[in-house]
Amino acid sequence: MEEFEDDELVWHKVPVKIDESRNYVKALHVAGKKLCLIRENNVLSVTSSRCPHAGADLTHGWCEDGKLICPFHRHRFNIETGQGDEKQHNYIRIYPLKKEDNEFYVGIKKSLWNKIFG
Ligand code: FES
Repeated sequence: MEEFEDDELVWHKVPVKIDESRNYVKALHVAGKKLCLIRENNVLSVTSSRCPHAGADLTHGWCEDGKLICPFHRHRFNIETGQGDEKQHNYIRIYPLKKEDNEFYVGIKKSLWNKIFG
């Protein structure tokens, strides 16, 4: 199944094999969006890829202590909540991920268009 939906989200099949054996930060292209796929010490996370500070591509970032580090000015974001460090006053979006029948799916909020006409 390529996608399915519930009341709020459309769950899109992750189009690449997710490596659950090592840590990384890389780009994930799903439903026309470029997201950031992160695995860090057994936490698998999908986040937005644009840094809210000045727009850097977070897929070129890296992780330290459970935080995704932006490659431009080193803002730090919690990879489970998306919350930026205290003085930054910003956050990144976290996309829910789930595994069904050995496939991963990422949940993306339905657009208003989907809600009305979907
Ligand atoms: S653009 Fe990411 S910290 Fe400035």
